[in-house]
Amino acid sequence: MSVLQVDPGQLQGRFRPPGDKSISHRAVLLGALAEGVTVARNFLRAHDTHSTVACVQALGVKVELDGDTVQVYGRRRWRPPEGVLDAGNSGTTLRLLCGLLSGQPLEAVLDGDSSLRRRPMDRVAIPLRRMGAEVEAREGRFPPVRVRGAVLRAIRHELPVASAQVKSAILLAGLYAGGTTTVVEPAISRDHTERMLRAMGVRVRTEFLGGGPVEVELEGPARPAAVEITVPGDFSSAAFFVAAAAAQPGAQLVVEHVGLNPTRTGLLEVLRQMGANLEVQDLREVAGEPVGTLVVRGCRLRGVEVRGDKLPRLIDEVPALAVAAAAAEGDTVVRDAAELRVKESDRIRTVVQNLRAVGVQAEELPDGLVVRGGRLRGGTVDPEGDHRIAMAFAAAGLLSEEGVTVEGADCAAVSFPEFQRWLQTLAKR
Ligand code: S3P
Repeated sequence: MSVLQVDPGQLQGRFRPPGDKSISHRAVLLGALAEGVTVARNFLRAHDTHSTVACVQALGVKVELDGDTVQVYGRRRWRPPEGVLDAGNSGTTLRLLCGLLSGQPLEAVLDGDSSLRRRPMDRVAIPLRRMGAEVEAREGRFPPVRVRGAVLRAIRHELPVASAQVKSAILLAGLYAGGTTTVVEPAISRDHTERMLRAMGVRVRTEFLGGGPVEVELEGPARPAAVEITVPGDFSSAAFFVAAAAAQPGAQLVVEHVGLNPTRTGLLEVLRQMGANLEVQDLREVAGEPVGTLVVRGCRLRGVEVRGDKLPRLIDEVPALAVAAAAAEGDTVVRDAAELRVKESDRIRTVVQNLRAVGVQAEELPDGLVVRGGRLRGGTVDPEGDHRIAMAFAAAGLLSEEGVTVEGADCAAVSFPEFQRWLQTLAKR
């Protein structure tokens, strides 16, 4: 287990985040079914995306990795796997594959590590069963999950909680079903699946119903056509440095080629409300995804209340936001974020415990947390194997008075293997 010691320091310089994890997963998963060879450049090479590659290879799909370029040779029919499909730590791999496997004429068992085995899968099993697939989970809820594909029918499904993984699993199953598959979300979650499917020639329509809810419709059956894409930089990986720099007077950070899809950038809205100085330059579209340069000039932030429809658009950034809030003046309150309890760790609990461990007053709420900002002393934290908690608290070390020691910091490699190198490059002491 690696221990990372982060001393106080100021963020200065130019940073190019690694390829987006969500989009990298989707390039492999959609490419695996597509007609032709899908090519993705700036593909994220990390534990989670390697799990996706290994799973589709076990299903008979040829995948070639060369540096950060991946080539996926799509197949209409996959091969029955010889063993269990191992999704590792990756919820996206397991849930999206359940959708894709639902329409394949084979049976497969999907499993993962101890963290993934604690995460709920009934949210995908229930709609996929309604579509006609056989899906069984341990105790009806948890991995391992057994999927036996069938002839599927299109459904209309209303999600109780916004979730891009569940929405995507249903839409991907909808590729095999005749007619319109409809997913209604209470608020918009990341829409990378919809954008990539459209780029691959599939008819997908998004309608905002007013006041929050969104309806997504896919016309099936449809087989995606292979595309060549360049994956934008991962906003969620950039977020640790962006949030810390924004909260640090004198810091200056330029983040290049970063994905700025509005379904992902809720953190920027919240940081602006807190008084942050953020500038977007050179905004453009790359393969259907907004990309740009983000310039962050640090200053003293003030606490805010964050709740409602915004949460799905910053759900993975709450740990980074909590660290910025600890360095801000006044209280920050996050509500409507109960989903954080079923991520790679219970992130409400792991964030609050670790904030306390570095001398910050913080409280758990059933659906969020309160951070009392002002002073970040420092200390030793245990991220409990959760990559985003490890990186958020490493960034907290820069803002602290005495430094932060992160135990088991190598779990960052789940999404951002180069994190420590960038931390060293950008932190000036
Ligand atoms: C993801 C969706 C989100 C997010 C996860 C990646 C995706 O999960 O937290 O890190 O790639 O679709 P939920 O769909 O469970 O909200």
